[in-house]
Parts: sequence; C-alpha cells; structure tokens
Amino acid sequence: LAPLQAHSEQTYIMVKPDGVQRGLVGEIISRFEKKGFTLKGLQMCICDKAKAEEHYRDLEGKPFFPNLVDYICSGPVVCMVWEGTDVVKAGRNLIGVTNPTDAAPGTIRGDFGVEVGRNLVHGSDSVENGEREISLWFGGTDTVEWEPTMTPWIK
Ligand code: TYD
Repeated sequence: LAPLQAHSEQTYIMVKPDGVQRGLVGEIISRFEKKGFTLKGLQMCICDKAKAEEHYRDLEGKPFFPNLVDYICSGPVVCMVWEGTDVVKAGRNLIGVTNPTDAAPGTIRGDFGVEVGRNLVHGSDSVENGEREISLWFGGTDTVEWEPTMTPWIK
C-alpha cells in the first residue's frame, strides 16, 4: 500500500454546558472516534470567568461576549484534546458552522442545536489557537501519549 498522507496535529474540543446537560457528551466523543481521530486528553471542570475570558480573548468587545462568558461558566464542560490528520479543520467540519440554524444536518450543531448562544461544542479554529487552548485548559500536562494499535483486542 502507498503510505498514508498523514498530517497529524492536535485540536482542543470542548463540550459546552448545554451539551453536558443534554447528555450529548458520548454522542460528541463518538463522532470524533468514528471519524478516526485519537483522544489524547479528557477532563471535566467548571470554568471560572477569568479562564472563559482568556479562552475567548479574541472576541472581547463583541456585544455577545458577556453572555458567552456567563454561558461557558454556567455548568460543567468536558475538555478534550483530539489528534489526527488535519483534525483542526476536520473537527470544525464535524461540529458545523457557528449558528446551529445554518449548520448542515449531519454536523453536531446541525443535528442538535437551534441557537447560536447554545451551540453545544467548541473547536479550535487554527493549529496555533489549538496549542494555546490546550495549554490553557490542560496546563501543559494531563494529556496522554499513546497510539492506537492493530492489536486484536477481541476475536
Ligand atoms: P466564534 O469563535 O465566532 O464561533 P465558533 O465557536 O464557531 O468558532 O464565536 C465563539 C462563540 O460565541 C460561538 O460558538 C457562539 C458565540 N456567539 C454568539 O453567541 N453570537 C454570535 O453572534 C457569534 C458570532 C458567536
């Protein structure tokens, strides 16, 4: 077989409070697993205001910014690092466009959301922002080095 055109990178994916409250954590993880990406970090937390403001610092000054920060801090979030070929772009394709009303069916937001201010899941928009967000949420540690293998775990 020809070698794979692999271009491995990492992205920060976060199930937002509405996704956790609505029981969509498993569904969202499942979509990333089935696409072929590898989970490298997973933790749950309740975000404080300073961290939410830092995470969304590029949007400071937007009219929706205060509501966005309140929303992200309103309940537990599930924080993840996913790795794989072009995972930043492909992850955003799995998630769908920002406004769930416009998001295509088959995407997470397109299948489960109706409001821009309750759009279920976050995904980094560039490799650089992915690195920044992973170190913000995972403190540069708590990710796991491993690779999936072809080991026959079941027969
Ligand atoms: P943004 O980074 O533009 O979108 P995305 O999450 O798709 O990368 O915006 C961050 C979040 O801000 C977005 O997920 C939902 C919220 N938001 C609003 O509440 N109203 C808006 O008009 C926009 C553009 C975003």
